[in-house]
Amino acid sequence: MKYGYFDDKEREYVIDHPDTPSPWVNYLGSPEYGAIISNNAGGYSFARSGANGRILRYIFNQFDQPGRYIYIRDNASGDYWSASWQPVGKELGQYQSKCCHGMGYTRMLADYSGIHSEADYYVPLGKSYEVWALTVTNRSDRVRDLTLTGYAEFTNHSNYEQDQVNLQYSLFITRTLFEKNRIIQQIHGNLDALREDEEVDDKKVTERFFALAGGEVSSYCGDKDAFLGKYHGYGNPQGVISGDLGNITSYNENSCGALSYKVTLDPGESRTVLFLLGMKSSAEAAAITDSYTDPAGQVRQEINALKADWYAKLDHLKINTPDHAFNTMINTWNAYNCFITFVWSRAASFVYCGLRNGYGYRDTVQDIQGIIHLAPEMACEKIRFMLSAQVDNGGGLPLVKFTHNPGHEDTPDDASYVQETGHPAYRADDALWLFPTVYKYIAETGNTAFLDEVIPFANKGEGTVYEHLKRAVQFSFDHLGPHGLPAGLYADWNDCLRLGAEGESSFVALQFYYAMTILKKFAVYKQDSGYVRYLEEKQEETGQKIQKLCWDNDRFIRGYTEKGERIGAAADPEANLWLNPQSWAVISGLASREQADAALENVYQRLNTAYGAVLMDPPYHEHAFDGALAVIYNQGTKENSGIFSQSQGWLILAEALSGHGNRAFGYFTENAPAAQNDRAEIRRLEPYCYGQFTEGPASSHFGRSHVHWLTGTASTVMVGCVEGILGLRPDLEGIRIAPAVPESWDSFEIDKDFRGKHLHIRVENPDHRESGCRSMSLNGKELPDNYIPEGLLKEENEILLTL
Ligand code: GLC
Repeated sequence: MKYGYFDDKEREYVIDHPDTPSPWVNYLGSPEYGAIISNNAGGYSFARSGANGRILRYIFNQFDQPGRYIYIRDNASGDYWSASWQPVGKELGQYQSKCCHGMGYTRMLADYSGIHSEADYYVPLGKSYEVWALTVTNRSDRVRDLTLTGYAEFTNHSNYEQDQVNLQYSLFITRTLFEKNRIIQQIHGNLDALREDEEVDDKKVTERFFALAGGEVSSYCGDKDAFLGKYHGYGNPQGVISGDLGNITSYNENSCGALSYKVTLDPGESRTVLFLLGMKSSAEAAAITDSYTDPAGQVRQEINALKADWYAKLDHLKINTPDHAFNTMINTWNAYNCFITFVWSRAASFVYCGLRNGYGYRDTVQDIQGIIHLAPEMACEKIRFMLSAQVDNGGGLPLVKFTHNPGHEDTPDDASYVQETGHPAYRADDALWLFPTVYKYIAETGNTAFLDEVIPFANKGEGTVYEHLKRAVQFSFDHLGPHGLPAGLYADWNDCLRLGAEGESSFVALQFYYAMTILKKFAVYKQDSGYVRYLEEKQEETGQKIQKLCWDNDRFIRGYTEKGERIGAAADPEANLWLNPQSWAVISGLASREQADAALENVYQRLNTAYGAVLMDPPYHEHAFDGALAVIYNQGTKENSGIFSQSQGWLILAEALSGHGNRAFGYFTENAPAAQNDRAEIRRLEPYCYGQFTEGPASSHFGRSHVHWLTGTASTVMVGCVEGILGLRPDLEGIRIAPAVPESWDSFEIDKDFRGKHLHIRVENPDHRESGCRSMSLNGKELPDNYIPEGLLKEENEILLTL
């Protein structure tokens, strides 16, 4: 079953069946002003923080309500509907609609009773308010008299939780007023007698507005209950039914902004009006509203500006392969997903309400990887930030507060940090994620000078980037477990695996091994030869230990608990094969060819399903060890044998690095949202964005996916596809091109910007291979292999690779 399709030219996903299995959403705005909108206009808005800047209310775990509702009423018949299918929800036979989610905007088209409507929702580039632009056209053959009503449900408090739970307080600080063509909501309005620089108990007046531009308001309402009417809902508000909002404001009632506008349209005639919303003072709101003197024209310009801004980022990598799902994910949707996750971390979706008070270290450092090939400078800013959240002992702060103040932060060694963040200790893996991320950035840009940039540590002191990385490695050496592998500390990547402070995770050990490979490259570049020798020795030692302690015949085990129990060995009754140690043994370069083949084959035979590979098998139930927290989840769910989507990216990469194009691409396809577009009733999530996990075969809802948008999957799969399947592998001096693709592909093309130059790569596959290089030429000249030193590149480059 499908509910929509990809319009690749417009970079839109078009939903033509609005009764989707779950709300399918889009993100509007920027870090200054964020908005989430579903295909039925459900969603919320916030200034800066989803938790503390919440402007529009949204009820989680409920129907997809409320939202940015626009009602259309036919004043002759009294019939009414909405510009999005819901909330009025007219009979789908009579009501035709399309919802086009694009890059930074969402457009709702509807046709009902001879009236065509188009509602464009967006946040103008660089602005911190939102626009709902409505154009109605009379497509009937008679004159039509309509009332158009916009409805915005304000929170009574900018803190999401206070609005929801502390009603004895939040209801009595809110009120609305009407001024000219706008509703102004005031929170703590009674503090309006204070001077600009004064506050009472940290509080002063906060104003939000909901305004109409392009016409005169015919009636208004600032009180939610009065607008809806007793025992009415969003689908049949009294104010819309009656055609008159009664000119009511609110005082100690749930506030809202509702504005009506009356229009008479001749056959064929159109009218555009704008509803504007934001957290602004009344004077600023007036200026914004007055700035829309040519609504239709300005809306077109503003949407074009958004598109141009997005396209400029996304166009740095364009592919044309025989597979539509792959093309649309890499060119548009996975890339867009990476940026959204990069910006909002885990702070605002229909699952995350924003209450987490900071950035997770590992999550954020991983998220950066997804955009490096498209926006390296943006990535670099965040890398700097994350390096400044590294403690001077080399460990990462598990949670980096939104108020992070480099050089002055407490650490997990301080009771105050633990109390404030709820993170009791360092995690073994956090700072190790820096290695692939920093390496990818330097390799993409060639900016080796970054290694010498001085960046503060979180608590005190400063050091060059190179020094930061050295300390990260030292941190692991300073925290070794009884077998000499990095100790578990609080946890590794898997939040549900508590091996104990002295436990040892094979995943972390492999990350550590890999970190040394990368640091060695930097040390060679820095001609730090003593340190190169030190790392060589240490890495060799670590590698031998991993081999001796973690290889179990045809798999790498998951690690050792503090008590010395082996986890993930073949003989264990549950969880005896784990996905991540197998893929990371390959990614880290530790596994021998034989081990890689055996481990990956084992994964394919035992863990693979039609929707990707499960995280481990069998699920925990009766034999969970003390730290096997995954047992708290239903079987086949999340870390308890769910198909954890993030891990699919590493599996794709591992298979591709092994030259197994068929398998790498197979894993991509199984879990790719776009490849499941016609099975949307099973996957349920948006077919254009990743989710955190898919339920595994142990669940009765095998194939159903959850936790949309904000997930590390966006970046790991992007890396798996770009470095793995497409084989674009820059290093310090140039770029290797080593695709691993389905043998059925005849050819494909890649356009890539690289260090200010443009590469047009054509890959031909006459012998139907999965990988390898028979020949490669650059601008007509044969190269010895598939590597291009940067020095050979011109402004424009034609590259031909034959597999
Ligand atoms: C979630 C967490 C991430 C963790 C993963 C696996 O995605 O955000 O930090 O690594 O689960 O447990």
